[in-house]
Amino acid sequence: MPSNVISVPSEETISFRNVDIVTPSQKLLASQLSCDVSQGKSLLVTGPNGSGKSSIFRVLQSLWPVASGRLTVPSEGIFHVPQRPYTCLGTLRDQIIYPLSREEAELKMAKSLRRWTIT
Ligand SMILES: Nc1ncnc2c1ncn2[C@@H]1O[C@H](COP(=O)(O)OP(=O)(O)OP(=O)(O)O)[C@@H](O)[C@H]1O
Ligand SMILES: [Mg+2]
Repeated sequence: MPSNVISVPSEETISFRNVDIVTPSQKLLASQLSCDVSQGKSLLVTGPNGSGKSSIFRVLQSLWPVASGRLTVPSEGIFHVPQRPYTCLGTLRDQIIYPLSREEAELKMAKSLRRWTIT
């Protein structure tokens, strides 16, 4: 983890302090961003398309570095729900067994059960 990202055990607040949000092509999207989001609280981020809303989360997830300033995050981890759904078309079963077909999943399950059968 980069030195300007501080991961704190039992920390209950996500804290941006003077963080610049910069794309890999060095475009500055947000300058000196400072805000705190406490556990259980909500923050609505609004702005035009392409203004950099999702990029804040790219930095929060360490996909992009903290170009300047300091970011403090709870070390217990943060669960992110992506903007675009990364699921396949179909039923809940299709999601769970992806990328297998129903027949392939049943065959795999039958094989693993056979391994555990006492003869
Ligand atoms: N990997 C990348 N490399 C360079 N530039 C990028 C990259 N990903 C996004 N950008 C640019 O960063 C800018 C902000 O994108 P971002 O996805 O954060 O916008 P957004 O505010 O979430 O938009 P939307 O409302 O459409 O979701 C855009 O100009 C986009 O082209
Ligand atoms: Mg977005």
